[in-house]
Amino acid sequence: MTGPTELLGEIADVGRDRLRGGYSRHGFDRADLELRDWFTERAVRLGLSVEVDRNGNLWAWWGRPGPDSVVTGSHLDSVPGGGPFDGPLGIASALDAVSSLRAKGFIPVRPLAIAVFVEEEGGRFGVPCLGSRLLTGTLDPETARALRDQDGVTLAEAVGRFGLDPDRLGRDTRLLDRIGCFVELHVEQGQQQSASGGDHPVAVASSIIPHGRWRFTVRGQGNHAGTTDVADRHDPMLPAASAVLAARSAVLDRRRARATVGRLRPNPGGTNVIASSVDFWLDVRAESTSDTRAIVHEVTEAAREAAEAEGCELAVREESFGEPVTFDPGLRDQLAGWLGDVPTIPTGAGHDAGILADRVRTGMLFVRNPTGISHAPEEYAEPADCAAGSRALTTVLERLCG
Ligand code: HGY
Ligand code: MN
Ligand code: MN
Repeated sequence: MTGPTELLGEIADVGRDRLRGGYSRHGFDRADLELRDWFTERAVRLGLSVEVDRNGNLWAWWGRPGPDSVVTGSHLDSVPGGGPFDGPLGIASALDAVSSLRAKGFIPVRPLAIAVFVEEEGGRFGVPCLGSRLLTGTLDPETARALRDQDGVTLAEAVGRFGLDPDRLGRDTRLLDRIGCFVELHVEQGQQQSASGGDHPVAVASSIIPHGRWRFTVRGQGNHAGTTDVADRHDPMLPAASAVLAARSAVLDRRRARATVGRLRPNPGGTNVIASSVDFWLDVRAESTSDTRAIVHEVTEAAREAAEAEGCELAVREESFGEPVTFDPGLRDQLAGWLGDVPTIPTGAGHDAGILADRVRTGMLFVRNPTGISHAPEEYAEPADCAAGSRALTTVLERLCG
């Protein structure tokens, strides 16, 4: 088997986004199907048996699935215009680690699986960690079935076309009870490893800060850009602009707080048209749940005030929220101990590991990203660091499955 960098090279052309740059790979879309085929072919070549669970997640098993299995894995989907490492590096490293273990004649005492979770970014249906939330029952199946992509296709229709029964979406206790622990390897998002002094291609995760997504809808009056006086306007873009500016001011005096409006959709979106409505999404993350919610409140108040002044209506809906996650301290310390002198770092990024952490002993490994950039084409990890990450995962899996 080739190393993680070469494996990523095999999918380098899948889901390239020529308009945005980077990659756009989303749940059950064409790129996703190609990536699933690639993963399945690679896993079968390693002698693993691959199954799709009721929610569309993939599981490649080494040994008969059973209780107390060791699971590693991540996701293959991306944000729109995302980088090549966020998700796929964890999958490529898992394949490489299993290949290394098989090559040295290792036989796992505990069953080992590689999991590929569907739609971790929520790039198509809007809810992050869709596959792991459904698996653990933290997302209501009815709500999930009704989620729509921007073409109006529901998740129920998308999974039906994929060959799954939409009525079976939801918590999979049988599968959950098989998982003894889960370790996800992921590209670092930020530059803590480089900033931590020393030469640390690999780090261990300690926690994930609380974070959520809120959908704002502002309704005004569509009209002609050239014939409508300011006094007669009800332009929903004004409250939207107030919210974007409030998102920045609301975090300035809060530690490690971040609020982002990265997605804004005016309707109808004509250059010479005053929008009749605007949808935009607010992503907020902070040290505490109370801080996170206080920021959302501040942004909502700013939008509400501007909406009143402009004669518009405002609706706000929480689309997802994750409480703070502390990874299992015992497993965290085991990972750090087995890997020698590696830093333990918190993250502001959500992961499937963060969803599973509520149900199983969970840990994460990070591979250094010298640019610190993620969710953009500049996301990067050196081949040597990717190889170090794969070796670290091999060590961890050998210890856990031995
Ligand atoms: O948004 C996140 O933190 C993750 O990349 N889904
Ligand atoms: Mn991501
Ligand atoms: Mn990710």
